[in-house]
Parts: sequence; structure tokens; C-alpha cells
Amino acid sequence: MELPLLPLFALSFCFSIFLGSCDDFLSVKENSSSSPFPSNFLFGTASSSYQFEGAYLTDGKGLSNWDVFTHEPGKIIDGSNGDVAVDHYHRYQEDVNLMHHIGVNSYRFSLSWTRILPKGRFGKVNWAGIHFYNRLIDALLNRGIEPFVTLSHYDIPQELEERYKGWLSDEIQEDFRYYADICFKNFGDRVKYWVTLNEPNVASIRGYRTGMWPPSRCSASFGNCSYVGDSEREPFIVAHNLLLSHATAVHLYRTKYQKKQGGSIGIVMNTVWHEPFSNSSEDKLAAERAQSFYMTWFLDPIILGEYPAEMREILGQDLPAFSRKDMEKLKSGLDFIGVNHYTSFFVKDCIFSECEPGRGSSRTEGYALKSPQMNGISIGEPTALDWLYVHPQGMEKMVTYIKHRYNNIPMFITENGLGTRESSNPTNNEIINDVERVDYLRGYLDSLAAAIRKGADVRGYFVWSLLDNFEWSDGYIIRFGLHHVDYATLNRTPRLSAIWYKNFIALHAPPAPTNASSY
Ligand code: GAL
Repeated sequence: MELPLLPLFALSFCFSIFLGSCDDFLSVKENSSSSPFPSNFLFGTASSSYQFEGAYLTDGKGLSNWDVFTHEPGKIIDGSNGDVAVDHYHRYQEDVNLMHHIGVNSYRFSLSWTRILPKGRFGKVNWAGIHFYNRLIDALLNRGIEPFVTLSHYDIPQELEERYKGWLSDEIQEDFRYYADICFKNFGDRVKYWVTLNEPNVASIRGYRTGMWPPSRCSASFGNCSYVGDSEREPFIVAHNLLLSHATAVHLYRTKYQKKQGGSIGIVMNTVWHEPFSNSSEDKLAAERAQSFYMTWFLDPIILGEYPAEMREILGQDLPAFSRKDMEKLKSGLDFIGVNHYTSFFVKDCIFSECEPGRGSSRTEGYALKSPQMNGISIGEPTALDWLYVHPQGMEKMVTYIKHRYNNIPMFITENGLGTRESSNPTNNEIINDVERVDYLRGYLDSLAAAIRKGADVRGYFVWSLLDNFEWSDGYIIRFGLHHVDYATLNRTPRLSAIWYKNFIALHAPPAPTNASSY
């Protein structure tokens, strides 16, 4: 397949806006001899099964929590769902070709639990699902692209919700172990990078505190939920089960597979750089608490063996305790930390000063008011998303914070990217010339490079995302792709950012080895 080169209208756009050549705009400054990225660095793009695959009932797949949730009226802004998504299930070969054209040497994707086990451990293995992932993994390896595989990117079998309330029950640890075993056994000969869970912090908060996501559980004053819930306690119970499920899968991998298969395993956290709003020691401590109640909530138990001190102090009995057996399990730890990083927020103390109620100000959230804007000052350029403000410096600060707290355990930036909103009748120019995305990626990669130069052990970077796709509550309204997707035809068209990323990789990474003929 021949891919379009830089579209003509993009060229004319570059000339008109920069009064120079497009090459100037697309150029990536550094030369390879001074590149801060190590020679075996992974440059990739990221995706997830629910957001990409579609084929939601094809070839024996079972229903996931997200399949059911999106079919309930009023849950997704544009009334859409992931039934078709970008049809990656049928178009994966074309998508692998797109990746090869960009020159990435890795692809982060997730397995759909219900494509492999339609009813969790309470039903049979769906071999058609295993065959699909075998085909995808082989197609990637044929193009010299390392698979970087997440076991669960928010999706779980609906069966488990119905049988025992999913992550609220400690039974799920056994289901996760059973599922992980099948995945390691069938794919571990070729998959060398495993992620247990994507953003368990976000899953706990959105599913059980604000109730915006499945299983829509929450209580006043946090949200308006269709089902019951307890926003003060359930997120911590769920997090506890997520943590122990992670530990169970890592323990299994370490004892049964790792030696033979030679891969590594980690967890992916959503990270936000929390900038103290002032120099006061109160705001600085509040920023620390904001990290604890959001991120180190998970990483501390896995790496340091206990919940952060601030959480234990403030939450007391509401924070579940680890039994001796749990502590043993947790010792399996991880091999790397996956860092999803997009944005930064200001943080203001709410222990010593009065705070208006707002995100973070409650006891359950550590009395740390978080906002991208305070006293009329914005942390960065606003975007189409209310949670995403452009603050590239946050990348270096976030990576450096993790480096210091966890003794420079290897990290991968498993997601970073910019979401945009298209007008109702977009011109070709608007569709393709995603100048803001190029600026965003350039800024964040520069900032990452600074952290690496100062010694952070970062081993890879994945742009979210290869393609526009189903953006959870925002449906198809928000677009994150290096490639535009026309949802009427499912045609993929490279944006300026795809070409910019291709140039960036060419400068910083050697060409990927491939045993396939080039096209
Ligand atoms: C991440 C999530 C992705 C994607 C991205 C952009 O938090 O893991 O699935 O949606 O945000 O919002």
C-alpha cells in the first residue's frame, strides 16, 4: 500500500503560516550524535482494545463493562459507543503499515479480556480471540515493531460485575490471575513488555468516586449516580483489589514465565504534575498530598510496601490494611513504571486555609484543591479538554519526581498526546494541519529529553494515539490521532503530526529491523 506523502494543502499551509518551508516547521533540531535518547529507546504509539478494535460481538467476544455502559442512554456525550470504534479488529494490518511508515519500533495496545475469556474464568477460552492477537503480534514483529501489551485497559468482563461486583470484590484477584496466565502462556514467547493495568487510579476515581464511568457508583456530594455507591470508601477498596490483582499477575509471571520468556512487567499510572500554587510550605505539602492521593497511592504499596504516610494519616480506618499474605504478594513489585502524562494542575492547601469545595478539597482527596487555573493565572494553554492544559515543563518535573521517589526504576512514557475538537464542517486544512499537536509533542519531548539528560532512566515514549478513536465519555468528539479517521468511511489520513513524529524518530532512533519487504 502506498501512503500519501505530505498532502499538498499541508504544504501550502506550512508556507503561508511560517513564511518559510514546511521542512523548517517539521524539522527536529537535534542531530543524532547528541540525541539524549538511548540507542535501544522505544518510540511508539499507544491504543487500547475498547477504543480501537470495534467488532464488539464478533467471533465469540463477550460483553465487557464498557460495552454495557456505553449502551445506557446518556453516558457518552455524543451517544456513541465502541461497537465499531476504528475497526482495528479488521484493519489491524493497515494500521501496522501506518506504524511502519512512521518508523516506530514499538506499539502499545491492550488485550480485550472478553475477547479471550467472554465470561472470565466462569466460561471457556475463546480461541478466535487468541488467534486475533496472534495475528496482530506476528504482523507487528514482521515489521520490526515490539508489542507492548496491557492486560486490562479499564475493561473487565461484565460477567464479573454481575457475579460479584467486579473490582469491589477480592474475588477478582483470582479472575485476573486466571486471565493473565492464559495471556502469558499464549503470547509470552513473543511479548516482552507486559503491563498489568492501565491507570488503576483513574478507574477507581471515575468508576467509584465521581461515577462518570462504569460501574457508575458514587454518593453525594461527588456525583449524581444511577446506582448506589460510597465515594468516600469504595475507591480505596477498589484500589486495594486492583493493587493485589497487579501483584498476583506479577507473582505469576515471575514464578512461572519470566525466566523462560525473558520479558518485563509493570503497571501504568495516570500522572499529573501538581505545582504548588505558592511558595508557602502549606501549598508545597498540599502538592505532595495531591501526588499521594492520586499516584503514589498505587506506586508506594507496590514499590515501598505501604500506602503513603499522608494517606494513612488522613484516612485512618477508611484505608484498607494489607494482611501479611498481601504484603508477601506485593513484594513481587514491578520491573518498570508506565507513566501516562498529559497535563499539570496548580494545588492549594485546604487544611490551614479555607477552600471552596472543588476537585481535591475533601478529606477523601487529601485536602488539596486542584485546578489548572487559580487567581486568574493559568498553568498553560487551554485545549478542547477541560482537564488538559499544555504545560510541557510538567513532563520533566513528573519524571524527575518519580525518579527520586523510586530510586530511578526504569520508566516508559506510555502515553502523551493532545486531544482536539473538529468543527462541524472541517476543511482539509483543519483536518490535516494539526500544528497545535506538533507544538505539544515537540514541547513535551524536549522536556522529557531534559529529564533523561539529567539521568532519568526513561526507556520509551508512546504517543497517544496512532489514530483518532473512541475517547471514553467524549465519544468521537475529541480526536487524539496522528492520523485523522473519517468515521463515515473509516479512512485513515496522516496528519502533519504523523510526519513530524516520523522525522523525529528518524533523527533519534536507528531504523527498525524488518524482515518484511518495504512498500
Ligand atoms: C488516558 C487513557 C487513554 C486515553 C487518553 C486520552 O488517560 O489511558 O485511554 O483515552 O487518556 O484521554
